[in-house]
Amino acid sequence: MEENLFVSKTAPPREFKSFWEAPSNIALVKYWGKISSQIPKNPSLSFTLSKCVTKTEILFKPHKSKTFDFDFYFDDKPMTNFEIKLGTFFKLVSSYIPWINEYKLVIKSQNSFPHSSGIASSASAMAALSLNLMDMERKLFPKMDNSFFYQKASFLARLGSGSAARSIKGPVTIWGKNNSVSFSSDLYAVNFDDELSPIFKTYQNAILLVDKNSKSVTSSQGHNLMNKHPYASNRFIQAKSNLKNLVDIMKSEDLDGFVEIVESEALSLHAMMMTSNPYFILFKPNTLSIIEKTWDLRKNKKIPICFTLDAGANVHLLYPFEFKNIVKIFIEDELKEFCQNGQYILDYVGVGAKKI
Ligand code: PMV
Repeated sequence: MEENLFVSKTAPPREFKSFWEAPSNIALVKYWGKISSQIPKNPSLSFTLSKCVTKTEILFKPHKSKTFDFDFYFDDKPMTNFEIKLGTFFKLVSSYIPWINEYKLVIKSQNSFPHSSGIASSASAMAALSLNLMDMERKLFPKMDNSFFYQKASFLARLGSGSAARSIKGPVTIWGKNNSVSFSSDLYAVNFDDELSPIFKTYQNAILLVDKNSKSVTSSQGHNLMNKHPYASNRFIQAKSNLKNLVDIMKSEDLDGFVEIVESEALSLHAMMMTSNPYFILFKPNTLSIIEKTWDLRKNKKIPICFTLDAGANVHLLYPFEFKNIVKIFIEDELKEFCQNGQYILDYVGVGAKKI
């Protein structure tokens, strides 16, 4: 699809309030390296989560000055730290939703997960914002169909944070043009087709909060380091091949194949960080202790549990629904001690964002 199909016409301003909840997501095949405006160097695939969400309400107030303006509140308190990031996002999206310049936005947002937990909130935050923007656009242009609504929401979210494109729908989304999914796109994420094996629709994701401090290297800096990375071109080939194989695996119940690709992707992402110039390490000793304990459990109890990592030290454990109780006991008995303040979140695969 051409980018200019996403540019809306103008319409008379009117006051409107919208409220959306959007989930976080965890990539199984990782996006690391971009061309420009969040056009990925390789396709990625993720599980949409259920409990880790951002709830955002926007009041759109028409104003005469025709210069776009907004106020942002987080947990009911004015939050000026995000203003630059949000301002950049609104400037970018205004090319596609020019009506925004006729409004002042009052934005109120909150996260379900602990503040500064080290869980990336930009995906759920940008997705929730974009869905609110699309709600307003649908108010102005009521003929819009549902599939365009969600496609453009993913397109706008991508401009805020690449991985946010994958936080609109669920349970599994794919972002980035690839040969396995004919309707895939670099501009927005699409759903895994109907052939997804049912076992993955109830997959569990325990998030072990190892380190809640903000990252020493941001994801934007990390993506940029891939531009001159000595192993970048092979990494993009590897990710494309992993995506192709994982799509096939997720149509079956090949859990051994699933474990192998998911863990290899997590370690490859961190290997890219460790071999970039400048190099950096985002995991912590406790991250490795949790990985080793997880490998022991898998081997000793024959449970198809695996880990993945985001750009940080927290560990995401992935396992089928039927092992939910065993894994909970395992975390309490053996992993909790490696988590900061003993904190962890028991989440699971979800169906995507919803209007409140
Ligand atoms: O969406 P960004 O620019 O924050 O990049 C996300 C990168 C990873 O979380 C490391 C991987 C991914 O695909 O989500």
